[in-house]
Amino acid sequence: MVRKILKYPDPVLRKKSEPVDFVDEEVKALLTDLVDTMRSVGGVGLAAPQIGVNRRVIVIEIPEDETEDGKPRLIKLVNPEVVSTRGTVKFEEGCLSIPGIRTYVKRNEEVVVKGLDEEGKETRIEATGLLAIALQHEIDHLDGVLFIDRVSSLKREFLLKRYRKQMLAKEQAL
Ligand code: NI
Repeated sequence: MVRKILKYPDPVLRKKSEPVDFVDEEVKALLTDLVDTMRSVGGVGLAAPQIGVNRRVIVIEIPEDETEDGKPRLIKLVNPEVVSTRGTVKFEEGCLSIPGIRTYVKRNEEVVVKGLDEEGKETRIEATGLLAIALQHEIDHLDGVLFIDRVSSLKREFLLKRYRKQMLAKEQAL
């Protein structure tokens, strides 16, 4: 089911999300809703707090032109955790909860992430490229951290000013 995506400055986006004890039917339904919602807007990733659920659950879908085997790669992760990192890279990011804003963010170039898959089994992902960035971006959401928090305060002020102006214009157009 496609759910409503919360937009900045919604306070739910700033809360630290709770870990999941068991991957039960409710968690599986949450994963399905996240995938449906992400696909409905053509996103690369989505975290549960973005649809109003403060649980540690994320989904990512890497489009076929960004994967090695030329097939889209869908990842559903519960309680994801970065266990090791290597290198740094600057990557241009956006976020479905802060539409219309994009900026370069410094991230780890490679990450190893562990978590549970949709069957509740322990899984480990070694990631580089877009997947590594998406994992870091979505895991940040679970701690109430947004990509604009990872740029200088000057840059952030500039981006948020533009964002507010844009949101205001959208409201007035309704
Ligand atoms: Ni985001």
